[in-house]
Amino acid sequence: MKMVSPSLLSADFGNLQRDIEMLNQSEADWLHVDVMDGIFVPNISFGQPIVKHIKKHAQKPLDVHLMIMDPGRYVADFREAGADILTVHYEACTHLDRTLHAIRDAGMKCGVVLNPHTAVSLLEDSVQICDMVLLMSVNPGFGGQKFIENTYSKVRQLRALCDRKNPQCLIEVDGGVNVQNAPLLYEAGADVLVAGNAVFKSPDPQATIRAIKGV
Ligand code: DX5
Ligand code: ZN
Repeated sequence: MKMVSPSLLSADFGNLQRDIEMLNQSEADWLHVDVMDGIFVPNISFGQPIVKHIKKHAQKPLDVHLMIMDPGRYVADFREAGADILTVHYEACTHLDRTLHAIRDAGMKCGVVLNPHTAVSLLEDSVQICDMVLLMSVNPGFGGQKFIENTYSKVRQLRALCDRKNPQCLIEVDGGVNVQNAPLLYEAGADVLVAGNAVFKSPDPQATIRAIKGV
């Protein structure tokens, strides 16, 4: 599968409705929504009230990436705010199995996110209950960072793990994705690519989304 989930972190927050409508008209598959708490990551972005407004205008599923400590506390809140897919960091959950089941039970697709330093092999006992695994290809917290090359090998390792344990599981990559590295990531086994700066800083965001997807 070749999907694109543009990250609204790089959108113009003063014109969020305009930017969401642009994505509604594009080939984007999902809208990627980055929630940061200033503790798990150094930056603070926005919380449920803004997600609710995004949901009001979006005509595509909301792919909500929680960069917050102990995200299990907020599963019901983000469901109510309109999340369709909810991803939580492996590094931020003491009871990952419980949190993933809570996300599913609330009616959302669930996913685990791995920071660049976290080994794919740690998912051996949880990939079975994931709809998606998200590999960070930068250290989370900010848009516009440089892609970490080691990600290709992690995508291949994860593909092999999913083939063995959960072939339905989608693989998403987030951070520093652009038109140049996108085909290599899909080829390595990624299904969904998140792109913030590459899309929103481009003179023609819709054409860039198409170029990332290769259509
Ligand atoms: C980073 C966020 C990303 C970010 C990606 O912590 O999780 O989703 O918005 O932005 P780019 O594509 O500019 O690296
Ligand atoms: Zn993200």
